[in-house]
Amino acid sequence: MIVLGIETSCDETAAAVVEDGSGILSNRIASQVEIHARYGGIVPEVASRQHILAIVPVIAGAMADANVGWDRIDGIAVTIGPGLAGSLLTGVNAAKAISFARGLPITGVNHLEGHIHASWLAGDRPVFPLVCLIVSGGHTDLVLMNGHRSYTRIGGTRDDAAGEAFDKAARMLGLGYPGGPAIQHATAEATTPIQLPRAWLRGSNDFSFSGLKTALLRLVDAGKLASPADAAAGFQEAVVDVLVTKTVAAANQYRARQIVLTGGVAANRRLRDRLVAVSPLPVVIPAPALCTDNAAMIAACGCFRLESGLADELDIDVVPSLRLAQTADIS
Ligand code: KG4
Ligand code: ZN
Repeated sequence: MIVLGIETSCDETAAAVVEDGSGILSNRIASQVEIHARYGGIVPEVASRQHILAIVPVIAGAMADANVGWDRIDGIAVTIGPGLAGSLLTGVNAAKAISFARGLPITGVNHLEGHIHASWLAGDRPVFPLVCLIVSGGHTDLVLMNGHRSYTRIGGTRDDAAGEAFDKAARMLGLGYPGGPAIQHATAEATTPIQLPRAWLRGSNDFSFSGLKTALLRLVDAGKLASPADAAAGFQEAVVDVLVTKTVAAANQYRARQIVLTGGVAANRRLRDRLVAVSPLPVVIPAPALCTDNAAMIAACGCFRLESGLADELDIDVVPSLRLAQTADIS
């Protein structure tokens, strides 16, 4: 089965063609990061307009790169949520137009389910039961998967998402946007990482990053940070320490056979290395470009949905606050 995936939930306009849920034939992304960097964060109205400008060339590019004609495409998968309403609408309307014009089935994909499916693109097939940590700009969720399309949320952040915390910390330290890559880059110059508190929330699989953020802000306000690099390294270490320790503990608790790490923050080198070093279980981490938002993961997820008979009608709509547990087929 060959599926065209379309992803426009935030600030990346992406389209990809994927075969049998795991083989990437093409994967195009038009990033808006330089435009939003001027404002220090994503401006939703600007994002919507950029998606409208980029969507047709990005889809055409993905089809050209894949070198398959429209007659070889078996279905369209598109992100319906969670995300920014105006951004999601561009992708969903483009997908509907193609579905109608070409007579192809369409399936709406939960962006988080898409992030999980990036692990299907990583090579070997995941082994169940597995525990997946999804860490992105909008989400930090621990999910138990007992089988395909069987998800249970076993923990997650009680306040800021990990990526959001990286972005806010980078802003405080004057390191620029997006914050995750900026902090990672700054840590190369660190000599003595500062010590920051960790919220362990013992007895639960939840996370909290707001106390860490406040602790950093206090030091910034007090003028106590001589080196942004040492501050960045201390901050990154605190986030990574909690994410890795609690993910491994949850995997042990649920007797998982594998850990999957995905989402934009999973592009972080220190997080990837620490998890692999600490985990007694095999760890699957997609390549960094498949951890951040992309359409290949949406096509991979859509392929499994279409194979399971989960095609949608053309009245499919965006759901900006869609949760993993809300997706109809998830128990
Ligand atoms: O998954 P994603 O591309 O978009 C959302 O669905 O949110 O994640 C974006 C988030 C941003 O907060 C960004 O700062 C973070 O992922 N990020 C990183 C790194 N690369 C991206 N965080 C830490 N280290 C990185 N190398
Ligand atoms: Zn994402």
